[in-house]
Amino acid sequence: MPIRLVTTEDGSHTLYAEHLNETYHSLKGAYHESLYVYIQKGLEVFHEENPHTTIIHLFEVGFGTGLNALLSLQFAEEHHLYIHYTSIEAYPLPADLVAAINYAQFFPAPLQPYWSAIHACSWEEQHEISPFFSLKKLAVKLEDLPVLPQEFHVIYFDAFAPNKQSELWEVPQLQKCKNLLLPNGLLVTYCAKRQFKEDLKTVGFEVEKLAGALGKKEMTRGRVK
Ligand SMILES: C[S@@+](CC[C@H](N)C(=O)[O-])C[C@H]1O[C@@H](n2cnc3c(N)ncnc32)[C@H](O)[C@@H]1O
Repeated sequence: MPIRLVTTEDGSHTLYAEHLNETYHSLKGAYHESLYVYIQKGLEVFHEENPHTTIIHLFEVGFGTGLNALLSLQFAEEHHLYIHYTSIEAYPLPADLVAAINYAQFFPAPLQPYWSAIHACSWEEQHEISPFFSLKKLAVKLEDLPVLPQEFHVIYFDAFAPNKQSELWEVPQLQKCKNLLLPNGLLVTYCAKRQFKEDLKTVGFEVEKLAGALGKKEMTRGRVK
C-alpha cells in the first residue's frame, strides 16, 4: 500500500495514501485538526459534562499515525484523569514510516518519549504507557470487530472519508459504534455528510452540527442519552 509523508500547513506531517488519493488529516494542519475535532469537541466536552468520571474509556476507529492517542495522553496528564484507550486499525503502518513523522515536537519535552512508546508497544495487548494512560491497539477492521468486553465514554470516528470508504459510515458500522457507547457517551468525527448524519439518527444518536476545524464549515458529534 503506497503511503508517503506530506507536510501540512501548521508544519505537522500527515500521510497520503496513493491508492485512495486521500490524506490521513486536513492539509490545513494535521495537529490542529486532530486537537480541535477529537480533543476539544470530544474528550474535553465529555470531561466538562462528566467531571466525576475520572477513568475514561475511549475508542478510536483508525489508529493510523497515533496522533489522537498522543493528544489524549496529553489531556489525561494535564487533567489527572486516567484514560483507557482502545484503537482499531485495519492497516498498521510500517515502523520506518512512523519514525519519520514529526508529531513528537508538537508536545512538551516530558511527553515526547510517549510518542515512541505508543508505537513500540505490541498489538492486541493492553499496555500502561504513562501513569495516566493505557493503550490497547487492535489490528482489525471495524467490520470484523468482535463484541468487546468494554463499553466506552467517547468514540473518535476517524476513518477515511465516506467517498473513499462508504461502508464504514453506514448503518451497520454506526450501530456497532452506538452499541459500544455508555449513556452520556459521545462520538466525534470530522465528517459532516448529510447521509451519515441521517444514519447516526437512525441508530439512535442525537446529532449535533458543529463548526469544523480550520475553516471547514461543519463537523459532527453524536450523543447517546
Ligand atoms: C483518516 S485516517 C486517520 C488515522 C488516525 N486517526 C490518525 O490520526 O493518524 C483513517 C485510518 O483508518 C484506517 N482504516 C481504514 N479502513 C479501516 C477499517 N475498515 N477499520 C478500521 N480502520 C480502518 C486507515 O488505515 C487509517 O489509518
